[in-house]
Amino acid sequence: VSGADDARARPIGVFDSGVGGLTVLRSLRRALPGDDFIYLGDTARLPYGTKSAATVQRYSLQCAAALTARDIRALVVACNTASASALAALRLEYPQLPVIGVIEPGAEAAVAASVRQHIAVIATEGTIAGGAYQAAIRRRNPATRVEAQACALFVALAEEGWTQGPVVEAIARRYLDPLFGEPGDDAGGTLRFRGAQPQGAPDTLVLGCTHFPALKAAIQAVLPPSVIVVDSAATTAAAVLQQLGPSNRGAPVGRIRWLATDNAARFARVGSTFFGELLDPAAVEIIDL
Ligand code: DGL
Repeated sequence: VSGADDARARPIGVFDSGVGGLTVLRSLRRALPGDDFIYLGDTARLPYGTKSAATVQRYSLQCAAALTARDIRALVVACNTASASALAALRLEYPQLPVIGVIEPGAEAAVAASVRQHIAVIATEGTIAGGAYQAAIRRRNPATRVEAQACALFVALAEEGWTQGPVVEAIARRYLDPLFGEPGDDAGGTLRFRGAQPQGAPDTLVLGCTHFPALKAAIQAVLPPSVIVVDSAATTAAAVLQQLGPSNRGAPVGRIRWLATDNAARFARVGSTFFGELLDPAAVEIIDL
């Protein structure tokens, strides 16, 4: 086995602040079914989205150190907040390791989907404040109009497993009214649209946080039906497949190793809904970073 062949047999490391990155892992596994993965959820320090860029960068470097110590062939940053604040630092720290974030693939998906090149991005405070999404979209098409809105409570709702119902929809309205509602609508009020496609409103909404796909149905319920909702899970998986190619281990189904920094039972319980499969708390190893 040559060195290059050997490298392709190693697992792919994936991390997020918690269980949100499991929406990305789900797509990765579909794209690379024979690959092994190590998933790390930094559940002890969640959320990242309300913390400063410097702190998120420090945490991300620690997550990456834990994964590289377990001999990975690539690192997927399955968290928009960490991708926004730490991607450059991670690439600098590990120049030999392919490091793939979720923002560029998310921007790619949005620009491809938007007919009128008018895109709304919802994400954590940290991601919106850093402007990485806005920049990634404009790099692809400088004429694109980009609206951005931080939706911090969505992370808490998703982590709590509150993914649908009137409370979630009321909060979604409060956040999305200013982007998609009629001018003059009071935030939190009932959305009224000028027909199916409100004039001047974005035609595409990017779920710029890996926790948000869990709330997709509730978000869509308060949007005009014509708005296209995209997330970066599938496009990130496609980017990883394109950049790395599949494992050469020849196994039909790869293994997943689970790491978290706190509370295996909660990680498995909430994570199951994000991953779409039942996770066994006994299989989650708790580590210190
Ligand atoms: N899942 C993370 C993201 O994609 C954010 C969650 C958090 O705030 O920790 O941005």
